[in-house]
Parts: sequence; C-alpha cells; structure tokens
Amino acid sequence: MAKRDGRDRRGGGRDGGRGGGRGAAKGGGGPLIEKLWPTHLLRHRLPGFEAANAALAEVILAQEAGQAGFTTAYLDQNFMQLDHPAAQWLSQCANKAVADYVAATDIDYDVEWSLQGWANINRLGDYHNLHNHPHSWLSGTYYVSVPDEDRVPPGRTDRNPGAISFFDPRGQANMNAIKGDPQVDPEFRVTPQPGEIMIWPAFLHHFVHQNLSDRPRISVSFNVVLKWKDAYIP
Ligand SMILES: [Fe+2]
Repeated sequence: MAKRDGRDRRGGGRDGGRGGGRGAAKGGGGPLIEKLWPTHLLRHRLPGFEAANAALAEVILAQEAGQAGFTTAYLDQNFMQLDHPAAQWLSQCANKAVADYVAATDIDYDVEWSLQGWANINRLGDYHNLHNHPHSWLSGTYYVSVPDEDRVPPGRTDRNPGAISFFDPRGQANMNAIKGDPQVDPEFRVTPQPGEIMIWPAFLHHFVHQNLSDRPRISVSFNVVLKWKDAYIP
C-alpha cells in the first residue's frame, strides 16, 4: 500500500488538521507536529472494587486449590464466564472498559467482541516473562490483590516487585534518542493498584516483575477477541 499523507482523506487517511487526531498545531500559523501511531493504554480503578476483590480472591484461591498448574493452564476455562457474582461483575466492568477504550478511538461503528479470561496467582519469586497475546485484538488485566511494598525484604534498588512493564513496539526507537526526546524511554512501568483495570493493544510486549513478598499477587487477565465483520476492514 502506498504511503498516505495524513492530510489526504481520499485514501481514508486521517486529517491531522481537524483538531485532535494524531496531532494538533501548537498555535495559529506555527508548525504542525504529528504524533504518529499512538499506543493506547487504558487505566481505571473500578468503583466498588473492595467488596468485589474480597470475593474474587476467595474464588480464585479456591479454584487454585483444586487445580494443578492453575495459572499456567490459562486456556482451560474462561473466568469471564464463571457462574459467580464477582466474576460476572468483573466481566461487566471489563466489557465497559473495552467500550471506553473503543470510544477513545476514531471507531464510530459497532464492534462486537468476546472476553477470554484467566486468573493469575504469583507467589514469592513468580513472574511472567516478556510476551504479547497473539490472536487477540486487545488484552487487559484486572488487579485483585497486590502485596504491599513494605513486605518486600531489602535488596537492590533496581528491583520493581509487582510492577508490569510495557515496551515500545517500535523496535529500537530509543537507540539515538537524547534526553527529553519522546522516544528516549522504551519502557513504561506501572505498579498497579488493587481494583485497577488496564487494557492495551494485544501486540504490545509486556513483562510482569517478580513478586518478592510472602503474600500472593492475584490478577485476572483477559483477551478481547473480535467477532469478525467485513465492515472492520479499513
Ligand atoms: Fe500478558
């Protein structure tokens, strides 16, 4: 496909001068800085999470007790379809968050999806290596229980127990970046809060840092799988 000029609507490209879109002019008559190909990360602390998290932790720990390889056998069940009020609450909240994610894009038509969810329990020393989520459109995680940092024994200051890091999908875009350059940091690291939901494009590589506390870190991850329609083709 030929390259499109961002100002050319003929090929379906977006017009950066419409006041928003990928970029916006900094003032009348000044140069336009296009911010190309943004990567959206939704973050939201869900109202009512305290009561829900207590119930979710109970359900997830009970499930783990009855299933060997609980966290690694993540396709064995769909947590978002579990017949339990807390799981149904989470499923509704996650669907709402996906709708919010979509609303923040230029998608102005109906999109249908399903959620495939699984619970994670990371105990002392557990982590998830760098990965992305093939065959999905979006991915996300909801945080049920995050150990307090004051339970982590002293050690090196470059550890980030319990954090999740997202990495710039543009390869080595930071290689020649200088201080203050928008590409200078290839890592975006978040220490999630209990009750927080995050959603990101499934292609985005991420890494879940080691749990260094004696309390479990519990979360529910999910994939957003599109119900395909030809109308989605740009
Ligand atoms: Fe993941």
